[in-house]
Amino acid sequence: MNQFIHDKEFEPFVSESKIQERVKVLGAQITQDFQGKKLVLLGILKGSYMFLSDLCRAIELPLEISFLRISSYEGTQTTGEVKQVAGFHDDLSGKTVIIVEDIVDTGISMDYLLKEIKKYQPADVKIATFLYKPDAFRFKYSLDYVGFEIPNKFVVGYGLDYNDLGRNLPELYQLVNSQ
Ligand code: HPA
Ligand code: MG
Repeated sequence: MNQFIHDKEFEPFVSESKIQERVKVLGAQITQDFQGKKLVLLGILKGSYMFLSDLCRAIELPLEISFLRISSYEGTQTTGEVKQVAGFHDDLSGKTVIIVEDIVDTGISMDYLLKEIKKYQPADVKIATFLYKPDAFRFKYSLDYVGFEIPNKFVVGYGLDYNDLGRNLPELYQLVNSQ
């Protein structure tokens, strides 16, 4: 069923069952890849909360959960600006940090995050993103765990918002064409 959020219409794009299936696969890969490491899942607020919540339950390893808040988006267009809005004081030194994001599109936020996180002297930094828009991506760094590669169209649901609404939808929707 289509969703009307603020002034826009969104149509179903990736179903809840497809999402759940994919997140389980990513969790199994992470379980394989980080045996014996001091693992931290670092969720980037607000968008990653739902992905992180499912992903952490699909990883069968001891791990810590941390959150960091940055904001870079208003409406359906990127502002191109990244600003850190909340202090972060957790201890990441010597730990393997997996940055958990809802989406990597231009890659500007993640580029900024990679530099910031390295200042905390982690043993290693990896990236897990629920969505990736390769057509929008402007950087060279590699994304270690990607849920879905999607076209460069605005989406909502599963943690992603359109002007603060739509995050609680359990599946993913995309903007209806011609808007
Ligand atoms: N939807 C919601 N938030 C976003 C998107 C999107 O497609 N891209 C970057 N932030
Ligand atoms: Mg947003």
